[in-house]
Amino acid sequence: MESYQLTFAQALHTALQGKLSLQHITNLLETPRRKELGDAAFPCFTLAKELKISPVDIAQELAEAISHPAFEKVEAHGPYVNVFFHRLSFSAEVLSRILREGEHYGDHDAGNGATVTIDLSSPNIAKPFSMGHLRSTVIGASLSHLAEKNGYVPIRINYLGDWGTQFGKLITAYLHWGDEDRVRKQPIIELLALYVMFHEKAQTNPALNDEARLWFKKLEDGDEQALQLWKWFRDESIQSFQKTYDLLSISFHSYNGEAFYNDKIAGVVNQLRAKGLLTLSDGAEVVSLEEHGLPPCLIVKRDGASTYAVRDLAAAIDRYKTYHFKKSLYVVGPEQSLHFQQVMLVLEKMGYTWAKEMIHIPFGFILKEGKKMSTRKGKIILLEEVIAEAISLARQTIELKNPTLPNKEVVAKQIGVGSLIFHDLKNDRLGNVEFSLQTMLAFEGDTALYLQYTHARACSLLRKVTSAPSTSGLCDDHSFSIVKHLSLFPVIVQNSFSHYEPSQLAKYAIQLAHLFNAYYSAVRILTEDSERDNRLALVKSVTIVLKESLRLLGVQAPEEL
Ligand code: ARG
Repeated sequence: MESYQLTFAQALHTALQGKLSLQHITNLLETPRRKELGDAAFPCFTLAKELKISPVDIAQELAEAISHPAFEKVEAHGPYVNVFFHRLSFSAEVLSRILREGEHYGDHDAGNGATVTIDLSSPNIAKPFSMGHLRSTVIGASLSHLAEKNGYVPIRINYLGDWGTQFGKLITAYLHWGDEDRVRKQPIIELLALYVMFHEKAQTNPALNDEARLWFKKLEDGDEQALQLWKWFRDESIQSFQKTYDLLSISFHSYNGEAFYNDKIAGVVNQLRAKGLLTLSDGAEVVSLEEHGLPPCLIVKRDGASTYAVRDLAAAIDRYKTYHFKKSLYVVGPEQSLHFQQVMLVLEKMGYTWAKEMIHIPFGFILKEGKKMSTRKGKIILLEEVIAEAISLARQTIELKNPTLPNKEVVAKQIGVGSLIFHDLKNDRLGNVEFSLQTMLAFEGDTALYLQYTHARACSLLRKVTSAPSTSGLCDDHSFSIVKHLSLFPVIVQNSFSHYEPSQLAKYAIQLAHLFNAYYSAVRILTEDSERDNRLALVKSVTIVLKESLRLLGVQAPEEL
């Protein structure tokens, strides 16, 4: 079974004998506004331009040439070719397949079991988990689900920012002004305050910078005191991040962060040197990328310290050795585009052909009243607190709408967290997201709550019947527009992953909910007549696809709300 669009597009493609690509035809398809004009329409203007024939003539010719057992009739209507499906048999086929396959509907084997590594979340220790890290986590988690649905094996890697010159600064600040108890009580807040204080004081006392460089050097050389402090900062930070991950229900296969690669840096530097790729620049060692019109990639700093770039080189090489990835995704903000370009090019220069399979997946900013939400300058927004607030707002909604709901606490978490995630994913990945708890938790609007509510509403209908759903098809307009949409799900699953764009799936789910709610208010679903089983099969299919769409986005769908 194919989606209704593909079925029509393929028939057109055959009739056109390669004059337009299948993808191009699919992109041109429209949904007629009036049902008398059929279930799908193909406008002939593009072809008319190319072939220099009138679109009306083309439509006429095509309509006569096309036939397919799924079509009841094909008609030319002015410059359009309109298709009418055999609604009964097409819908019976779509719905029985969904009922049979359940949550596996839309599974695809494009990946053929190959591994995809996904670098996601990757916050910096001793710093708050930023809004950017939230986006990376949420997008990365959804891509991981989508990868799996498309037949890949995803490996989620949390590449913690746990190494770098900033730890020299932090150790210096802690030794000057730190307090052990305070750090234990509020590690992230306290460590950030020390870091901010370092920068303030270093402005008038530049000697602090030298001290910090020395401490980082000591850390790299394995000095015991330096290592002990670093490890303590790291442990405290991870414990705090873990609370956020638990709330978001996300887990990782690896927490190998930057520090994990310390003992592999020298090997990479030697390899670069042996290949003659290193040049000296101001005392630092760099790889020139002049031929690509890019600034050089900094490998070793003047004082001998390692760089963010060389650690990513080591990590990429290690990832390939460990996982033999087919693709290696990096879900990281757009401000690191140059960094990833450089890292990939250097790997290519080193002779690693798999570097072509590394893909940087950037995303837009989270804004508050139009401005970038930032965690710098002491203006800290702790993500755990944001999530807790979302859950508490969800709890209030439940108390208002359904105070007797069982499992209120679980559902409040599903709504609160789901709203945060869905609000992030429903817009194009590269667009900015305006952060507003009120908007994201609204009952009306394209929110997780709206979708969860639609799903629960459908589930409650199904609870009223005992018979197993079965179908011989439906042909009324309301039902058939849902069936058409349901038939698109497998394509959406593929496209959302191949474009690394979970928003396509989110928009699909919103549309499905709209269609279902229109159906719900127009049709008496439970009326005892000969069509009842068919209607219930449709309702059941909607719950399956809605729930699976939400799952792929990382949002849970409770059965009762
Ligand atoms: N820790 C970095 C940051 O917060 C993100 C790391 C992204 N991943 C990578 N392999 N460089 O900016």
